[in-house]
Amino acid sequence: STRLPLRNASGLLVLTLDPKWIAEIPDHPVSLGDLYVVSYPKSGTTWTQQIVSLIQRGGEKDTHITADIPWLELKGKDFVLALSSPRTLKSHLPYHMMPGRDPANSIAKYIYIARNPKDVAVSYYYHAKRFTHFDFTGDWNCFFEFFMKGEVPFGLWFDHVLEWWKYKDAENILFLMYEDLKKDLSGSVKAIAQFMGYSLDDAMIEKITRQCTFDSMKDNPLATYDSLPEAPEVTVSNSTPFIRKGVIGDWKNHFSDEQSARFDAEYTKRLSGSGLVFEFE
Ligand code: A3P
Repeated sequence: STRLPLRNASGLLVLTLDPKWIAEIPDHPVSLGDLYVVSYPKSGTTWTQQIVSLIQRGGEKDTHITADIPWLELKGKDFVLALSSPRTLKSHLPYHMMPGRDPANSIAKYIYIARNPKDVAVSYYYHAKRFTHFDFTGDWNCFFEFFMKGEVPFGLWFDHVLEWWKYKDAENILFLMYEDLKKDLSGSVKAIAQFMGYSLDDAMIEKITRQCTFDSMKDNPLATYDSLPEAPEVTVSNSTPFIRKGVIGDWKNHFSDEQSARFDAEYTKRLSGSGLVFEFE
């Protein structure tokens, strides 16, 4: 079977998430100091969480990334309400479905991370094959079609990124690119810290950066999903690790020339005039 078992809530395909909670989230109260790490899936969310969490904890932590920065949509209302403010949460929701309703005019802060969509698609393909709840046994060609139609959790990549991009200049929104983190990790750590209101010395930046490289995260049980107690149950055996490859341009190993051309045409159509430009290699 090549079927993705998709459930539709509030116009989004959200698999196992509670549709009632998702619908309530935009009206969820925000407090001064609340911070949301937001992304379209597979864009560098976990990477950004690791950076943010280390900044908040002075470069040292002994807790898991999912505990440091819980996932808003997944955790549910009771869990989120029980957290003391200020809260730091992860989310994959589109701009108009975020707490604060209109993030650019809310008192919370939002860090959005975006990644070139061809690498996102490939990373999402391995993600869908990895987690049992996707029940996805199709091949890359099959996943590509779902991705192009936005028939994946959190919908069409173009809609998600373009909506957040509109608000990139708001003072309480930091719009990051995966490719920039790849090219200058310590500079990115510094920029993220500044946005969060921390002024860190070079030694601290260096200490945090060391713990956020691909190699150090891959081997860190507190930064991967593979080490979670529920991992064996939710993961298809022999699938790829969550912190998989971490490069720019892996799409070239998966997209056919025809798929690439089709994607490029759509990309040009959707992004032209937006000022949003990604690096693909
Ligand atoms: P790949 O599948 O291309 O390797 P998310 O956390 O949003 O689900 O994104 C996961 C992607 O980010 C995966 O991409 C993963 O390998 C990559 N990633 C995670 N930590 C990284 C790091 N420290 N450096 C580079 N890429 C990282």
